[in-house]
Amino acid sequence: MTTLRLAIQKSGRLSEKSLSIIKECGISFRNSSKKLVAKCDNFPLEILYLRDDDIPGYVADGVADIGIVGENVLLEKEKQVALVKKLGFSKCRLSLAIPRGQNYNGVSDMQGKYIATSYPNILKAYFKDNNVTADVHEISGSVEIAPGIGLADAICDIVSTGSTLIGNGLKEVDVVMRSEAVLFSTEQLIAEKQAILDQLIFRIESVNKARKNKYIVLNAPINSVTQILDILPGMKSPTVTPLAEDDWFSVSSVIAEDDFWDIIEQIKAAGAEGILVMPIEKMIL
Ligand code: PRP
Ligand code: ZN
Repeated sequence: MTTLRLAIQKSGRLSEKSLSIIKECGISFRNSSKKLVAKCDNFPLEILYLRDDDIPGYVADGVADIGIVGENVLLEKEKQVALVKKLGFSKCRLSLAIPRGQNYNGVSDMQGKYIATSYPNILKAYFKDNNVTADVHEISGSVEIAPGIGLADAICDIVSTGSTLIGNGLKEVDVVMRSEAVLFSTEQLIAEKQAILDQLIFRIESVNKARKNKYIVLNAPINSVTQILDILPGMKSPTVTPLAEDDWFSVSSVIAEDDFWDIIEQIKAAGAEGILVMPIEKMIL
């Protein structure tokens, strides 16, 4: 039987979340990051644990069919692959950073400077766009220590919480690109593999939609119901069921996480009581 091979980061910022999205899709596998490959029990998928920097190359060569990496890594490696989907997690910035005590007036300050980065292609393109000529040097890891040991004037590296920069006496001065985890694939998948990928995408989308929404149930007296129904969106329309108590109803609906507190305030003011809010596991529309 055909299996789709997915490459994910072995250890790092993306590993855990890449695995959890697969698990939330209802796909189970024995999770041992000591092993290079894990076969899934209930879905035709095989997981390869690799260094994120190597993943675009392996997918381009067809060693793996699909992969999950940061957009920054995908762009940097300049491999012939197809972007399938942004995944919405592990959001970060690729930024220029300089020693904390120094001033910064804009990217032109980087003119003629020695800059250490693991993303030379992206950075060179950024400098070119900004008409800056700088000395860009590639280092594969621990870029943040370069200024402190006199190896570079500035760095360009991934920032998510910012604690790595702070810990090394640096400050973020310019955002070169924003990035998040992406799913991508070999340019031309055979039909059987494409069908498996389509199923996987369908599951990921329903997991992501569910994450962004909550299920809400509340009680309301008859004279509040119309007003509450106006406030609640709902996938189609909210469900209204009579309660055992006369003139009281139970109303249930789906609301977006973003509007959550706003809606709660409004329906409370309209007379809702006993409001329950629950996470949704999957949403198939
Ligand atoms: C990046 C970067 C820093 C860290 C920044 O590494 O190189 O080490 O994340 O995160 P912070 O702002 O939360 O402190 P990444 O996870 O991309 O790993 P890699 O370079 O080893 O692939
Ligand atoms: Zn890496």
